[in-house]
Amino acid sequence: MAKLPIVLAPDPVLKLKCEPVVSIDDGVRRLLDDMLETMYDAPGIGLSAPQVAAEQRVIVCDVAREDEVPQPYGMINPEITWRSDENVLAEEGCLSIPDHYAEVSRSREIKVGFLDPDGASQELEASGLLSACIQHEIDHLDGVLFIDYLTPLKRNIILRKMKKLKRLQA
Ligand code: NI
Repeated sequence: MAKLPIVLAPDPVLKLKCEPVVSIDDGVRRLLDDMLETMYDAPGIGLSAPQVAAEQRVIVCDVAREDEVPQPYGMINPEITWRSDENVLAEEGCLSIPDHYAEVSRSREIKVGFLDPDGASQELEASGLLSACIQHEIDHLDGVLFIDYLTPLKRNIILRKMKKLKRLQA
């Protein structure tokens, strides 16, 4: 396993619509392992492939608390197949937009279909933090960031600060 560099916003790779994975090979399995290691190291509760500059429909997440047994998910070509009518507002952050948080409205519960690392079809019902996390990560695969749900004013303030941060790090 290897830790990968995380792409910071704004960056063109974070605005792409990622292509579905066609064949699940060792390369995809290595990407999943590396993404999990990168996420745990950050630390974060979710990570999508474009955030490590891989333009593929792959996400990982683990919302278990520190005192709980880890519960990692690696999802290939994830797709939301059902959403509850009810939405819920919760604070979100993103490893590509460090130190910025905002409330985002998401479906309270979802069902998500995906392929696991062995290529088997799976379906998961998620609620609470896991539901929000999966929705956030799948958004990334379509080039959508949580700041895209904010008003243009709030979004631009965050993007200006991110550009400054990136200039300082360059
Ligand atoms: Ni994110």
